[in-house]
Amino acid sequence: MTAHHLQFDSHDLQEKGLGLRFKLPQLGEHATGFLVRYEGKAYAYVNQCAHLPVELDWKEGEFFTLNKDYLICATHGAHYQPDTGHCVLGPCQGKRLQSIPVTEMNQQITIHLEGLHGHGGRK
Ligand code: FES
Repeated sequence: MTAHHLQFDSHDLQEKGLGLRFKLPQLGEHATGFLVRYEGKAYAYVNQCAHLPVELDWKEGEFFTLNKDYLICATHGAHYQPDTGHCVLGPCQGKRLQSIPVTEMNQQITIHLEGLHGHGGRK
């Protein structure tokens, strides 16, 4: 059995700070996802570039560009909008990260994994 949701403490997720990584056994043994905060809101995505199947952060948790405007894939520099996951620059332009539903209340962030599956999940 794999968990259908994961919880994080809201205080652990800083605005445009380090992302929090989590495992996604639903998508494969080594699959991970990540959580970031942008303009006050929490967003979660599958940690996989829309261009090639590699993780975005080469330094653990570092998903934002230097000026904190975009999420960046460290491998070839794809830029993603933090709130939508749309690729706006780089080799994956026009594609998007696979988002994962997130809710936040009472200082708790919940990541909802119920709808997540490995095959053709990206829209
Ligand atoms: S692998 Fe992410 S930009 Fe190419």
